[in-house]
Amino acid sequence: FNINPDLIEEAITERTKAILAVHLYGLAAPMDRILEIASRHGLVVIEDCAQAFGASINGKKVGTFGVAGCYSFYPSKNLGGFGDGGMVVTNSDEIASKVRLLRNHASQKSYLHEDIGYNSRLDEIQAALLLVRLKRIDRDNALRAERARYYTKLLGSLVRCPHVPEGYSHVFHQYTIRHPERDRIKEALEAEGISSVVYYPVPMHLQKPLRELGYKEGFLPETERAAREVLSLPMHPFLSQTEQDRICEVIERTLS
Ligand SMILES: Cc1ncc(COP(=O)(O)O)c(C=O)c1O
Repeated sequence: FNINPDLIEEAITERTKAILAVHLYGLAAPMDRILEIASRHGLVVIEDCAQAFGASINGKKVGTFGVAGCYSFYPSKNLGGFGDGGMVVTNSDEIASKVRLLRNHASQKSYLHEDIGYNSRLDEIQAALLLVRLKRIDRDNALRAERARYYTKLLGSLVRCPHVPEGYSHVFHQYTIRHPERDRIKEALEAEGISSVVYYPVPMHLQKPLRELGYKEGFLPETERAAREVLSLPMHPFLSQTEQDRICEVIERTLS
């Protein structure tokens, strides 16, 4: 579901400044290819790690490949607080000081503003909770991966299951299957009181503000097909095998 590196170059124009690599659902994007293309075109790479805390490629964590990695601590994320929060990681002193400035209304000295900034300070109470949860994130991610393997074992011959390339560590923020009869599967699960979610029903280029820039259906056919076929199944570290058996049994029954 991540960016297809074969299609990046034809999308680059003289106005392109950066490649934004989104590590969707918890799997790292193909960073070696992305970095190589970026360097050939003099572009920077920014990583969206919101769904991929702890994911890695050959042991190297996401967020450390590009000039900056952006994380979300929204409660539903693998490392979630109990309110909004986030983090930017970078090796660049320049980016670090700019981000520190912007998060506090671009103000270093009280009531003096150097730029147009935001209120993006992380509350102390969120930070305290996140520090406790941080100690458990590797265990929780491993439990998610275990549940993902079990789903794949049960569903592998029925639907398209997530593929984890060699050397990649997937943290399964979502376990997302793909099937042309997605809506029927979703309805059947719903009828059994099992929730499943379509991430995302309307692709970004078809959202109102971007449509107004002239994008329309057919512009991103792969994205649009994915939006019709994807379904994220229940996934969390404490999902039981009995629950997974039941979910998969409903899917099997629906497709048989
Ligand atoms: C891939 C991705 N990027 C960015 C965000 C935005 O994160 P936040 O809501 O913390 O700004 C999210 C959150 O849903 C996300 O899933």
